[in-house]
Amino acid sequence: MELNPRLRVIAGCVTDVKTMADIGTDHGYLPVALIEKGKLVSAIACDVNEKPLEKAKKIIEDYGFDSSIETRLGSGLSVLKPEEAEAIVIAGMGGLLIRDLLEAEPEVAAAAKKLVLQPMNNQAVVRRYLETNGFKIIHEDLAREGDRIYEIIVAQKGVMIVEDHLDYELGYRATQTKHPLLEAHINRKIRFEEKILDHTRGKTTAIARKQFTESQAYIKRLNEVKKCL
Ligand SMILES: C[S@@+](CC[C@H](N)C(=O)[O-])C[C@H]1O[C@@H](n2cnc3c(N)ncnc32)[C@H](O)[C@@H]1O
Repeated sequence: MELNPRLRVIAGCVTDVKTMADIGTDHGYLPVALIEKGKLVSAIACDVNEKPLEKAKKIIEDYGFDSSIETRLGSGLSVLKPEEAEAIVIAGMGGLLIRDLLEAEPEVAAAAKKLVLQPMNNQAVVRRYLETNGFKIIHEDLAREGDRIYEIIVAQKGVMIVEDHLDYELGYRATQTKHPLLEAHINRKIRFEEKILDHTRGKTTAIARKQFTESQAYIKRLNEVKKCL
């Protein structure tokens, strides 16, 4: 199975484990690809919606992996017992939902050897949640598909001290590890902030003026970081 660049990077983070649960599996491509490559002994493909789970079941059957990939219907980590899956992947969902799913089943999340998280937005919220709930980020990765850059966060139980505010936004220790896509990632953040500047420039409300000043300062900081890459 050929994965798209985002799922390929996520798959590359599922290492040193024999079992994985894919929460919100949708098509089931990730567990199928990992089993096919011999990277896992077994996997659990989970989804809260019946339709995607049926789709995943069909693909799993087509590949002849029904004895190594189980499917489960239900929300988030509620379908798992602690330690049932060494790695837990939650990808392609909003950061707020990912945080809520981890928060709803703290014992299951804490028992995993690895959490592989790929929030589509609110990545900083996920990093803050991990920091304040006894997790440490052990790896960060980026994937590019066309104009988009996806952030992949790998965490496990432990202590993490975030010293630089930018670590929440760009990725934990991103300015030290200097991923090849970091400059493009920063440029996207700058473009996003520039849009906020365009929307708030010349506005007289206190909120708009505060937002304008904050975005200006953030862009300045991002440009400084870029100079050091
Ligand atoms: C955009 S797809 C992402 C699919 C795949 N994980 C990926 O990254 O390509 C989101 C999937 O998450 C499922 N989902 C949404 N909320 C969920 C929840 N609370 N628990 C489990 N699955 C959920 C949806 O049904 C959908 O199949």
